[in-house]
Amino acid sequence: MTHAEDWNPTVYLNGEWGLLSEARIPVLDRGFIFGDGIYEVVPLYAQADGARLPFRLTQHLARLERSLGKIRIDNPFDDAGWRALIDRAIQENAGPGDALVYIQVTRGVAKRRGHAFPAGITPTAFVMVGQLAFPTDAARARGGVAVTAEDKRWLNCDIKSTSLLGNVLMAQYAAENDALETIQLRDGLLTEGSSSNIWIVKGGVLLGAPRGPRILEGIRYSLIEELAREAGIAFEERDITEAELRSADEIMMSSATKEVMPLTTLDGKSVGDGRPGAVYAALFDAYQRAKAREFELIRNRAKQGA
Ligand code: PDD
Repeated sequence: MTHAEDWNPTVYLNGEWGLLSEARIPVLDRGFIFGDGIYEVVPLYAQADGARLPFRLTQHLARLERSLGKIRIDNPFDDAGWRALIDRAIQENAGPGDALVYIQVTRGVAKRRGHAFPAGITPTAFVMVGQLAFPTDAARARGGVAVTAEDKRWLNCDIKSTSLLGNVLMAQYAAENDALETIQLRDGLLTEGSSSNIWIVKGGVLLGAPRGPRILEGIRYSLIEELAREAGIAFEERDITEAELRSADEIMMSSATKEVMPLTTLDGKSVGDGRPGAVYAALFDAYQRAKAREFELIRNRAKQGA
């Protein structure tokens, strides 16, 4: 397995394939100057035959299209185009272990610095395979530590924008407090983590903060709704107060890189009995089954196409 420090994948940048260490963008790229871009993180799971398969790629590509639309950047590729690039990125960087695909599209390179959109520029497109280690069984059994902070971000959190300063500061706050995640609250209501959606359990009911401009709707949002239904767990999408968060029986986070992960300490206090709960355990099992089903489908389609 390649070490994190010498990870140097072959990446796609604006029509060219080359080593990450050699990839360059002009400084007037709007992504560099203004954070004027959109991104996606898609998990890749290592299979017994050595292949790496993406999970929920269709949904990630649909969100990419939606995010680009919201900031009026033309999607440089259709679904088939993105899939071809992602397949090639996976092939170019074949190796053992799970991984992720990072996709970024910026508005492109301007001729001069100016806030409003420049006319007639071509979006910058970037695809990279990154390293990924999902939480270990031991980490899952312990559960993660969470801290809380005021959500000070803008009110377009539904756009998966590369303008991530608010999220970066929240992740740094977690790191400085030996926590896995910072749970954000706006006007006394739960929003989300620095890079995850947050779920709580109260009296056997799973609660998620409302979709809308205050949170990024994770690809795992709808998935967790489906998994809850499959596991017979009642689910409600509604405002969650700070008091409800602090008295929750269970808290968990979800993201491409954590799947669903229990949070067993909140601001130094145990959540529930301090151990991962039954709802978490049921969702985690259902998540593994959903992956197995999707990979089976991908394999069958590949066989039919071959
Ligand atoms: N982050 N909310 C925020 C602010 C996020 O950044 C993420 C994911 C999520 C969960 O979305 P999904 O289920 O689609 O991963 C929610 C990715 C992993 C990242 O920025 O690296």
